[in-house]
Amino acid sequence: MAGSVWRSMLSQVVVGAVRRPAVSAASFTRGMQTVTLIPGDGIGPEISSAVMKIFEAAKAPIRWEERNVTAIKGPGGRWMIPPDAKESMDRSKIGLKGPLKTPIAAGHPSMNLLLRKTFDLYANVRPCVSIEGYKTPYTDVNLVTIRENTEGEYSGIEHVIVDGVVQSIKLITEDASRRIAEYAFEYARNNQRTSVTAVHKANIMRMSDGLFLRKCREVAENYKDIKFTEMYLDTVCLNMVQDPTQFDVLVMPNLYGDILSDLCAGLIGGLGVTPSGNIGANGVAIFESVHGTAPDIAGLDMANPTALLLSAVMMLRHMGLHDYGNKIQTACFDTIRDKKVLTKDLGGNSKCSEFTAEICRRIQDMA
Ligand code: NAI
Repeated sequence: MAGSVWRSMLSQVVVGAVRRPAVSAASFTRGMQTVTLIPGDGIGPEISSAVMKIFEAAKAPIRWEERNVTAIKGPGGRWMIPPDAKESMDRSKIGLKGPLKTPIAAGHPSMNLLLRKTFDLYANVRPCVSIEGYKTPYTDVNLVTIRENTEGEYSGIEHVIVDGVVQSIKLITEDASRRIAEYAFEYARNNQRTSVTAVHKANIMRMSDGLFLRKCREVAENYKDIKFTEMYLDTVCLNMVQDPTQFDVLVMPNLYGDILSDLCAGLIGGLGVTPSGNIGANGVAIFESVHGTAPDIAGLDMANPTALLLSAVMMLRHMGLHDYGNKIQTACFDTIRDKKVLTKDLGGNSKCSEFTAEICRRIQDMA
């Protein structure tokens, strides 16, 4: 049952942005479609290679344009992503991204942050649905976190006031709050979801979270068909671990979304199985695994490629390539359900390459 829920969830994950053109017509020419692939760091290249192999087995009509993303200094000393990566994304409008390391004190902002800012990827969408056959303490989880992705505590505005005292600015704007609230309600409406919960701490951060909440309330007025509730972040955390089935769509500012979406990933088995999509205002969408670079297992053929693969399935559906997405997803879930070939994090002893080969074999058997 969970498998079929996933199928419909992932197939519609980006429909929330329905009023905005998803992909430029130019990139939807007949035949092969170009996708910018950012393999990333650590296990990124291994899991990207696994996804490419599986796509090849499924004969998915995707032409990968591989780009490395490292921070470079542009004119005026501003940090930017390499021009060839930006140019590729501007053209393809669709990206698939592995994890990128964020060295602490590297002197440049997080590459993930830079990507979000460069392409105004304002909505991070993460469906969290229990995976059949993969036992966790929770069953029947079926919720979606929608995180404002561009501002809040992650605005990157920090400075030293005097020695030993630093200040970090939490930036909340009316426009970004309204935009993410509208996205959440549109998403709920287009995905047959019944409720949207705004997650906040407006009791403490009266001005910033207060503004966010006000915009959610205003937007809710235009969506009377969707039940609107508001809840403190701490209450959501408590209720979430007690009974996650009470939640449907949750919308929240950046930092809360970062934390809560990882917590929700934990309910269904962890970051290794959780996909995500980042939706931009200008038709760009980047799909990514939400785990990090896993430096402890990088290069050891131990990584689980499921999260990146399911993100790639979201991407295929975003591109209208549903049949390919369904085929790949079925092979992946069947492999997990059978429990014979699983990576270590899923409770098995198989290598990433063996898990990948098993999914490819199942796809080939379907043909
Ligand atoms: P992490 O997610 O890389 O690792 C946490 C644990 O989960 C490790 O034990 C790791 O082996 C395991 N793990 C993660 N993904 C896995 C997979 N696909 N298969 C099997 N096991 C997996 O988190 P950590 O160690 O905090 O971060 C490492 C680096 O990744 C840092 O530089 C961080 O900034 C970066 N990072 C990047 C993200 C992104 O690009 N979206 C997200 C989170 C962290």
